[in-house]
Amino acid sequence: MAAVNQLSYVVGTSSDISGWKKYTTEVLGLELSADSDDSLLYVRADERHHRIGVRAGHEDDVAYVGWDVASKTALDAAAGKLEAAGIKVVQGTPEEASDRHVMDFVHFMCPYSDVRMELVLGHEIIFMPRFRPSRDLAGFNMGQTGMGHVVLYAKDILGAADFYTRVLGFGVTDFAHAPDGAPFAVFMHCSSRHHSLAFMNIPGAPRRIQHVMFETNTMDDVGHSYDLCLERGITSTSTGRHQNDHVFSFYFRNPSGWHFEYGWGARVVDPDTWIAENYVLGSGFAWGHDGLMKMV
Ligand SMILES: [Fe+2]
Repeated sequence: MAAVNQLSYVVGTSSDISGWKKYTTEVLGLELSADSDDSLLYVRADERHHRIGVRAGHEDDVAYVGWDVASKTALDAAAGKLEAAGIKVVQGTPEEASDRHVMDFVHFMCPYSDVRMELVLGHEIIFMPRFRPSRDLAGFNMGQTGMGHVVLYAKDILGAADFYTRVLGFGVTDFAHAPDGAPFAVFMHCSSRHHSLAFMNIPGAPRRIQHVMFETNTMDDVGHSYDLCLERGITSTSTGRHQNDHVFSFYFRNPSGWHFEYGWGARVVDPDTWIAENYVLGSGFAWGHDGLMKMV
């Protein structure tokens, strides 16, 4: 069983906070929390206090990624397993916990992506006022399976898969290989969501993060969002369907240069019975997503 239950939040740093402000409401269709300011934007997408955060900084990249754990016992157990694996675990300070709107958390540096991972207990839920999309969207499928997924760059795909399964109890949903047989990506689950965490090996990638995916409640919201991004010249790919999670989606750039994926219709997995799949890129029934293989 996974030590974590779901992806809680992804926070980045950006040199363009005002660009992100406009992008959040005009493009993503999400809600800027009232407690955002020019040094930190909290972006709401469901009843959680925030799912995306953007901190003012010089670097345009991911700053940290938060994962829910179910209890203090689970938090302590996960920290113990990380330490036993030789990973330094640091207790978050009360100031940091307040900044993240969580009760308690620990953090460690992912040895494969160099991204700070935070294991959090009690990420704040705001029941009222309800999340209100800032443009006409039917909302997102989050709830018990979390905000979607995050894809990070890593050179050692098989090492990352081994670490997250052995130490934190993720399950491998599938491995993707290049046509020449080289391991290209690993997709992992910690709930019935097909994947919440993935690592991709793209030599020379300019950042640590490639994209964050949100699952829309309707197919039309993917289409309308695509039209909007096309009009603004910020699409990263055309629409298409992935062969592994079956999602109908497209990718688009944000002001920091990394990408969002809005998708609909993903298949789910049963974490208790799922057997890791293995496929070769370009095979199967996938279509579209023109530009994906060049997207960094
Ligand atoms: Fe994705």
